[in-house]
Amino acid sequence: MDETRRKDAAEFDQRDFRNALGRFATGVTVITTMGPGGKPEGLTVNSFSAVSLDEPLILWCMAKSSPSLPIFMETGHFAVNVLTSSQQNLSNTFSASAKDKFSGVEWRQGLGGAPVLNGCLASFECRNSAQHEGGDHLILIGAVEKYDYHEGQPLLFLSGNYTVPA
Ligand SMILES: Cc1cc2nc3c(=O)[nH]c(=O)nc-3n(C[C@H](O)[C@H](O)[C@H](O)COP(=O)(O)O)c2cc1C
Repeated sequence: MDETRRKDAAEFDQRDFRNALGRFATGVTVITTMGPGGKPEGLTVNSFSAVSLDEPLILWCMAKSSPSLPIFMETGHFAVNVLTSSQQNLSNTFSASAKDKFSGVEWRQGLGGAPVLNGCLASFECRNSAQHEGGDHLILIGAVEKYDYHEGQPLLFLSGNYTVPA
């Protein structure tokens, strides 16, 4: 039978805690914004979640160590791009630190100039509405001002690996 791994706070280590959190399957998004000087910015994020219907709010969490944190803290708008099962390459591109992650990526300017990527399953164009402390992450709340969505298969992330629905 499978071994159950049970931990109390005193024995937490980050790798093991990540393993436990990784049991929660998520979709994969790329969150984008238009930086100062007109340079588009974006990163791969799976901490996206719905928050509220009335008012329409979503959240995501950004590592405080992320080089683009100051840009996302200051920006007026960001866009959440929900990836399809055929967009794993975008997830890889936007999770690696690179000077120009948008090279070769097709997108259009959404609200506030935030890049809306072509071919995604859904996109949510958000006003940067509130931020809350969350340990080594910052919780960003977006007020959704526009969205679109399509039929298709999502890209999933589970236990540190990409997968697609059965
Ligand atoms: C599937 C996946 C999910 C991720 N989710 C998050 C997340 O929710 N928050 C976060 O800050 N970084 C997350 N990352 C890591 C960032 O994408 C990565 O650190 C990226 O390089 C940050 O961009 P920057 O270096 O341009 O700031 C995730 C990476 C992957 C592959």
